[in-house]
Amino acid sequence: MINSIKRCAISSKKVFSNTYCKREASGVSLSKGMPATARIVEVGPRDGLQNEKQIIPLNVKLELIRRLSHSGLKNIESGSFVSPKWVPQMADASEIFHYIREQKQINRKNATFGGRSAENPALVTSGITFSALTPNVKGLESALATGGVDEVAVFGAASEAFSQKNINCSIEESLKRFKPVAKLALDNKIKVRGYVSCVLGCPYTGAIPVEAVRDVSLRLLEMGCYEISLGDTIGVGTAGSTERLLTHLLSDKNIPASKLAVHFHDTYGQALANIYVALQHNINVIDSSVSGLGGCPYAAGASGNVATEDVLYMLHGLGIQTGVDLAQIARASEFIDEALNNRATGSKVAAAQRSIAKKKLANAQKDCV
Ligand code: HMG
Ligand code: MG
Repeated sequence: MINSIKRCAISSKKVFSNTYCKREASGVSLSKGMPATARIVEVGPRDGLQNEKQIIPLNVKLELIRRLSHSGLKNIESGSFVSPKWVPQMADASEIFHYIREQKQINRKNATFGGRSAENPALVTSGITFSALTPNVKGLESALATGGVDEVAVFGAASEAFSQKNINCSIEESLKRFKPVAKLALDNKIKVRGYVSCVLGCPYTGAIPVEAVRDVSLRLLEMGCYEISLGDTIGVGTAGSTERLLTHLLSDKNIPASKLAVHFHDTYGQALANIYVALQHNINVIDSSVSGLGGCPYAAGASGNVATEDVLYMLHGLGIQTGVDLAQIARASEFIDEALNNRATGSKVAAAQRSIAKKKLANAQKDCV
């Protein structure tokens, strides 16, 4: 009897991770003409959490970032240095990056002295870029003061109306503001990423001309952004509109695929199809959010980012290497959904795998009786 109870002590976590691993191993190389590798920029702790109504405790954010750091991700966007009056959920960015700096110091010390914990650090910091949004010099100075920020992002828009609502200034004024931000960051050896929002539609004015996206992208590249993340802020893009946009942008020799990333919100369920189109154009940097968290406080109706789990499942299925362990992402995903009052996951992959894991566990427990 005792033995059978012991045998039954299969945790749901174990069933869950085994299921995921089998799926990953089945990836076949279908990616002819597509990139062999892709880099995931995990934006869950920032884009994912910024829109949550109730204030999320700092320790929950740190635990999410910690779990994500163990997955093999190379980029984790971990907060924003914006006005707390505008986005209260990001008010603790300094504390988050102080923690990251502390953990980096501990890991460096342990590595130097061959300490045991260097092999299994609380927060994995080696090889990971922890980034933050900085809309102006004030935000950048706060970011620099923490000593924990590896990269910053300025965020512009291809829509005048959205620019006004989001950052309280015109596109032209925003670009003027970003210039000294980029310069100061680069002077401090901090890389700068540029976002362009509303590339496939604006919540206030609708359709956006592709030329507007190209113009803002070029200006951001000129001021020193190493990469432009194209944001479908409200998730209205389709494979067709994505194709038209990318064909237009890539026809400009100053906008190579190697400088582009894609950032799809999944409001209309088109994000994976749109990412597939981006891969066909050899764009292999993809922003996504664990469990499909997210939304923009200044884009009513915008749902979460495409889920990291769903992107990984598609990329691995195509035989495109990411270096990210889907099982670890799934654990981070379960953690944050539980912490957010058992929210329903925004990831189809997570929903399917959790349901399979639950059934397996129930069957295993039945067999033990
Ligand atoms: P403003 O009111 O025009 O700024 O806001 P201001 O310079 O007139 O200053 C007003 C007050 O804000 C002052 O404080 C400043 O000190 C303070 P007061 O004297 O009233 O006490 N302030 C700041 N405080 C902290 N950090 C700062 C900062 N700057 C000024 N950096 C501002 C301009 C940009 C600050 C404001 O509009 C803002 O914070 N907006 C937040 C926008 C945001 O975070 N949106 C969501 C992220 S964008 C997004 O999600 C899209 C993306 O995911 C891509 C996609 O999906 O498309 C990136
Ligand atoms: Mg976004």
